[in-house]
Amino acid sequence: MPLVTSKEMFEKAYAGGYAIGAFNVNNMEIIQGITEAAKELNAPLILQVSSGARKYANHTYLVKLVEAAIIETGLPICLHLDHGDTFELCKSCIDGGFTSVMIDGSHYSFEDNIELTAKVVKYAHDHGVVVEGELGRLAGIEDAVNVSAEDASYTNPAQVQEFVERTGVDSLAIAIGTSHGAYKFKPGQKPQLRFDILEEVGKRLPGFPIVLHGASSVIPEYVETINKYGGNMPDAVGIPEDMLRKAARMAVCKINIDSDLRLAMTAAIRKYFAENPAHFDPRQYLRPARDNIKALVKHKITDVLGCDGKA
Ligand code: G3H
Ligand code: 13P
Ligand code: ZN
Repeated sequence: MPLVTSKEMFEKAYAGGYAIGAFNVNNMEIIQGITEAAKELNAPLILQVSSGARKYANHTYLVKLVEAAIIETGLPICLHLDHGDTFELCKSCIDGGFTSVMIDGSHYSFEDNIELTAKVVKYAHDHGVVVEGELGRLAGIEDAVNVSAEDASYTNPAQVQEFVERTGVDSLAIAIGTSHGAYKFKPGQKPQLRFDILEEVGKRLPGFPIVLHGASSVIPEYVETINKYGGNMPDAVGIPEDMLRKAARMAVCKINIDSDLRLAMTAAIRKYFAENPAHFDPRQYLRPARDNIKALVKHKITDVLGCDGKA
């Protein structure tokens, strides 16, 4: 099976009231952990590559690793550019075999965002590739850009129809209070999302797939393990899983997860070295890291996203 777009995945997810996991990938062990989990659960997958991941691991290596995962699993996998910030980057990923790109013009004015997004959509659709746009701005850390809570802004539901119609995007990322990174809410703060905005967006765009970025739950067990074995992370609070389940039953068809993968991997490696301080073979410490990613993704697929058995 070749790489697929997310079109059919989203149609089924919308109708079935579940979401597809979009997991960020940066190397072979991460790709293996995620895809082995999805294979065991027969789940569709979106693997996404940020520009930072592309700089780190190289475009061709990542594409070939994902192609290897398709051969090994036989699963429908969509390869997606996460947070593309220029037409040129999107074009390069489209020309280089990706089946989906995000153009993130959320930091531009409404008109400039529409102009840039429409240009990417035109090129992508001419090449059989789907596009995710973004309206509203999430807080948190993305690549080297740190968006403060003051600069973040919720999506205005009154703008979504016009944005989708004028750009032709296939899915839309919205800001309802999630944020990137491990520090989403202050310790002691009660996590809250604007489900009223999601509901209103859903009414204005019936049947249209919505995307939730910044959706890691920052699983406490990983932070505790990291700190138990020599780490020094401040208290970190993520998105409660019941909120993600609720979003998946609504119009959200794609849920982005990166920070939880990073925490799972780091927790396993810290624990390994604390218990085996004399070891130095990378296979020895990357194996438990990969196993931890696999366990995390199985949990997300079955207990949060609800996309097990949907491939
Ligand atoms: O939204 C951002 C993703 O977590 C990717 O992070 O740009 O550091 O690879 P990155
Ligand atoms: P997290 O930092 O919550 O994992 O979000 C990842 C993301 O939105 C990637 O685009
Ligand atoms: Zn994101």
